[in-house]
Amino acid sequence: MSYAHGSRRALITGGAGFLGSHLCERLLTMDFEVVCLDNFLTGSAANIAYLLHDPRFQAIECDINEVAEIPGEIGLVLHFASPASPADYLRFPIQTLQAGSSGTLRALEVARANSTFAVFGAA
Ligand SMILES: NC(=O)c1ccc[n+]([C@@H]2O[C@H](COP(=O)([O-])OP(=O)(O)OC[C@H]3O[C@@H](n4cnc5c(N)ncnc54)[C@H](O)[C@@H]3O)[C@@H](O)[C@H]2O)c1
Repeated sequence: MSYAHGSRRALITGGAGFLGSHLCERLLTMDFEVVCLDNFLTGSAANIAYLLHDPRFQAIECDINEVAEIPGEIGLVLHFASPASPADYLRFPIQTLQAGSSGTLRALEVARANSTFAVFGAA
């Protein structure tokens, strides 16, 4: 991932999920500080347990739809907070819709409030 502007502090929504946890790890190896936001709907604390010792890593248990503000500068927002796969879509249909609609909007609002340079989303 090329990144050449702004704060090297990233917010990863869904950071305790399959993709999000690997992104957390990868960004730490790229010398980012990482804020992982997750409500553990389909993810697991075990996915990020091995990152908690790193002082550059912060985990926040929160629904992206309800996040107020993230203190401190954020240079990159990666929005991966959403149930995935047909099985989880069927188990959590409303949460899937909310993550992709109001959750995406909230992630963009957090990015704007932080003058974030780059935003990526999978939802
Ligand atoms: N896994 C894949 O191969 C793949 C491929 C392409 C796209 N995607 C997309 O990437 C995204 C993540 O996929 P994944 O496989 O990592 O899924 P996952 O279920 O492992 O991870 C999603 C994470 O988001 C969290 N989450 C869900 N709703 C939330 C909310 N409202 N607020 C905060 N956290 C919330 C879950 O607890 C979980 O930790 C999905 O949108 C999926 O459709 C996944």
